[in-house]
Amino acid sequence: MLNRDSVNEKLQEVTYPGFTKSIVDFGFVKDIDVKDDVAYVEIEISSSAPEVEAQLKDDITKKLQLLVAREINVVIKSPNMPKESSSQGKNIVPHIRNFVMVSSGKGGVGKSTTTTNLAIALAMQGKKVGLLDADIYGPNIPRMMGVDGVQPEIAGNKVKPLLSHGVEVMSMGSLMEEGQSLIWRGAMIMKAIQQLLQDILWSELDVLIIDMPPGTGDAQLTLAQSVPVTAGVCVTTPQQVALDDTERSLDMFKKLHIPIAGIVENMSGFICPETGKEYDIFGKGTTQPLADKFETIVLSEIPIEPEIREGGDTGKPIVFHNPDSETAKRYMKAATALWNTIEQINADGGVDNEAVQPTTPPGVSACSTGGAAAAPENKEHNHGGGGGCGCN
Ligand SMILES: Nc1ncnc2c1ncn2[C@@H]1O[C@H](COP(=O)(O)OP(=O)(O)O)[C@@H](O)[C@H]1O
Ligand SMILES: [Mg+2]
Repeated sequence: MLNRDSVNEKLQEVTYPGFTKSIVDFGFVKDIDVKDDVAYVEIEISSSAPEVEAQLKDDITKKLQLLVAREINVVIKSPNMPKESSSQGKNIVPHIRNFVMVSSGKGGVGKSTTTTNLAIALAMQGKKVGLLDADIYGPNIPRMMGVDGVQPEIAGNKVKPLLSHGVEVMSMGSLMEEGQSLIWRGAMIMKAIQQLLQDILWSELDVLIIDMPPGTGDAQLTLAQSVPVTAGVCVTTPQQVALDDTERSLDMFKKLHIPIAGIVENMSGFICPETGKEYDIFGKGTTQPLADKFETIVLSEIPIEPEIREGGDTGKPIVFHNPDSETAKRYMKAATALWNTIEQINADGGVDNEAVQPTTPPGVSACSTGGAAAAPENKEHNHGGGGGCGCN
């Protein structure tokens, strides 16, 4: 029978693309009207992705057809989002609306490769994107984005970001001599991260994607204290020893009060280009239980593919230079899911980094041997005093 209740019941069965929750539970259904045998449904979603809208319309129509409606009208609207993000707490670059921290438990798992391709994918989807290489120990982003050796322009006492593949880019690697190494101490790391945020002339960005050093340490803590990080993304490879370290990264996001947008399982199987046979070099599909444990999702499974490595080495990221490849499509899908999560987080009230502010007196480094894990705990339990290691 066709009435408001039966329509509402059917809509309960329609899930939001990429999620297991129904559009009713998400609160996206704004109006249901039934007149004679014509059904009208109004949906309000914050996603601007046309493919999400199309899929929702399709799913809703199919469900309501089961109620033998003569005509089904589905209207999808976007709420008037506030221009600035609804984030609170400390933000040293308030004209950037969202921040995404990309972390991994260990190096070499493809964090920079993933960050690069996700940033470009978001830009290809029409977002204004910045890519900050905060991996001060291994700044690989300039090479991967094809801007290695390019000198950034100085404007007064600030530096203009480089522009590549539609993305604003800055890296410590672009500010140092090639091949030069710096020995970083706690206080220097804090200063470097803050300068990369504040002293770079970032435009008004929809999102700044940040490639972090591997592990959980001062860089992560400083970033979380300097800007409200909208979402965290973890990159892992499928083998157990990588997953063990990834769990630490996920735990760090929790301690830093950063919502987890998902995990990318990289180097997930290898499909032999000659035979098409699939080999599980590091394993495959092993990340899901960890995602479940942290109530998050596997954003994507990216296979081992020589073209990804070549794209990284030659500054031609696959998502841009071979957009029809299966891998590029997976990066695009992961970027869409990431953006939907960001919008959802903001619609739910945004993020607040008040709880992770330093507890140390002004001028004293908050860096500690406990690193990221220590400071928020100190603040929460009001131990006072902070965890300064005395490195400064
Ligand atoms: N899915 C993949 N298939 C093939 N090579 C990859 C893949 N992901 C990363 N690589 C390569 O592996 C190496 C390490 O990746 P990188 O992104 O630098 O890792 P991290 O930033 O975690 O240290 C790079 O040479 C990169 O091109
Ligand atoms: Mg890297």
